[in-house]
Amino acid sequence: MEKYDFLGLAAERYSCRKYKPEPLSREEVETLLKAAALAPTGCNLQPWRIMVIRSAEGLAKAKRATSYTFDAPCILAVMACNNEGWTRRFDGKSCRVIDAAIVTTHIILQAAAMGLGTCWVMSFDPKAFAEDFGLDASLEPVALVPVGRPAEDARPSGLHSVSRDIKELVSYK
Ligand SMILES: Cc1cc2nc3c(=O)[nH]c(=O)nc-3n(C[C@H](O)[C@H](O)[C@H](O)COP(=O)(O)O)c2cc1C
Repeated sequence: MEKYDFLGLAAERYSCRKYKPEPLSREEVETLLKAAALAPTGCNLQPWRIMVIRSAEGLAKAKRATSYTFDAPCILAVMACNNEGWTRRFDGKSCRVIDAAIVTTHIILQAAAMGLGTCWVMSFDPKAFAEDFGLDASLEPVALVPVGRPAEDARPSGLHSVSRDIKELVSYK
């Protein structure tokens, strides 16, 4: 395996909030899905599902659940399976939502590696989303990820470059 400049990729990725209308190719979508499938999950149970939303009808439905679609040509909805996933026996905590978050992280970083823009969106109405897309109670939508080619004038928001002092966040014992 080659050595990758992961820190460079992580620093380059930003939340893209303006896209070109050009659709993703099938290969591009499949590559993002492969990166999702490679994500680690508790006990490798893979308690997640992804809905690829790219039809005009689907994109219009997504807009009813969130104002944060940014008119991207594709949205990947990452969902956690409520009846699946590993549970910690000490306190009964399930890692299914954590697993879905790791999957989402793989997608946004893979997209960045392909020169595609993404934005992790949590500000959506889960009930409206579930109703519009006919999800049953076994699925919890965790993240909506608009994906596409960044518009020429797309830029990171000011928050992209704000980092808390690492000393506030890390302790050594
Ligand atoms: C869990 C999570 C939820 C987020 N939800 C939204 C959202 O609903 N709308 C949005 O525009 N950005 C959302 N973001 C993007 C963050 O605002 C963004 O990652 C943060 O400000 C840092 O900027 P950067 O991604 O450009 O580095 C979310 C990010 C995360 C990780």
